[in-house]
Amino acid sequence: MKAPSPRGLALALLLEVERGGRSQLLLDRALDRVGWPEREKAYVTHLVYGVLRRLRLLDHLLEPHLEAPKKLPPEVRWILRLGAFEWLCGKPGHARVSPWVEEAKRRYPPLAGLVNAVLRRLGPREAPECVRLSLPDWLCEAWRGFFGEVGFAEGFNEPAPLFVTAYRPLDLRPGPIPDSYVWEGPKADFPALGLQPQNPASLFAAQLLKPKPGEKVLDLCGGAGLKAFYLAAKGARVVSYDQNRKRQEAGARTARRLGLEVAYRTQDLRVPLSERAGKVLLDAPCTGTGTLRAHPELRYRLRPEDPGEMAALQLALLETAARATEEGGVLVYAVCSLTEAEGEGVARTFLERHPEFRPEPIACPLPTLREGLGTYVAPREGLDGFYYLRLRRVDSRA
Ligand SMILES: C[S@@+](CC[C@H](N)C(=O)[O-])C[C@H]1O[C@@H](n2cnc3c(N)ncnc32)[C@H](O)[C@@H]1O
Repeated sequence: MKAPSPRGLALALLLEVERGGRSQLLLDRALDRVGWPEREKAYVTHLVYGVLRRLRLLDHLLEPHLEAPKKLPPEVRWILRLGAFEWLCGKPGHARVSPWVEEAKRRYPPLAGLVNAVLRRLGPREAPECVRLSLPDWLCEAWRGFFGEVGFAEGFNEPAPLFVTAYRPLDLRPGPIPDSYVWEGPKADFPALGLQPQNPASLFAAQLLKPKPGEKVLDLCGGAGLKAFYLAAKGARVVSYDQNRKRQEAGARTARRLGLEVAYRTQDLRVPLSERAGKVLLDAPCTGTGTLRAHPELRYRLRPEDPGEMAALQLALLETAARATEEGGVLVYAVCSLTEAEGEGVARTFLERHPEFRPEPIACPLPTLREGLGTYVAPREGLDGFYYLRLRRVDSRA
């Protein structure tokens, strides 16, 4: 079989996302296999992420030119969206239209004429803000209600630098917080260089624990261990818990390559732990609404009831984390989500049930969206959206 072109590969990946695949995973796997120059790989990434991030707007722009878009074969719909995306990026006429017409001729010859006509006719069209931001109405309106504006979501539709956390000194462009850097070269073997790809907003959750050498830290819902690596690098004795053994095994391999020591224990954390510590991090599972840049398709898959359902699980996990926190100790709760339910909602309910915990102020060096009991990080300048709550256990329970 003939190897696909970058455009053909982007189209194939978008069809897989439509069948339920995850764009980041699909792109990583596909681009690892092709022996193409970095420029061509970057073009595929630009097309796949760009179309998914702007999908609602692209369909809105195409709508007046199509009689029954839903009846079109999926390949042709995605070809039209890809062409419309390149129009949105300002690519000039011929270079923008003819490659997509060729793609249509290869896959669906009878509709190549339609692709040609529609892509040539495209023009600007007024769009409501939620459509312009390509957000589902329920999420867009929830954000507008809670944060007072939703323009920040534009940050999810722009590409971001590749942030890395450095575990040995290297001469790189600094990121927004200590130990965070921007990787500007081609894809590299990061562990061999002592680097770990990580968004600064994720790193900052671990920094909130202010780990000291020799101190015991429990890393709850540690997964493949991004935050555990930072804690271990600062000399803490880290015990990382998660229910997913595969993720932990991947974490253990990376820790070895980075020369870091982390103890892994596999457990469902809705069940209490048999140990405690003076510092506890709960990086809870969440809707991921702060990560719509790297996971653009998520916005179309989430349901309005998801944040509430996640909050119930987060509160159950916080119970375990609270019991595992020693008197006088610190408990940090973090989620890569920007919903009220999973952030301030969880914080309010938890503090009503646990008067022995007090929220502590967070001096956040990252841009924020809203501060209350905890802090919401704005998804600007390539940052993921996050919510952090730092709690101190002030006395023992009666
Ligand atoms: C946000 S991710 C953790 C990311 C990780 N802390 C990091 O920095 O790389 C949430 C994790 O919660 C874990 N998880 C979900 N439900 C759980 C449960 N009931 N008990 C234990 N772990 C759970 C998932 O396996 C997942 O690894």
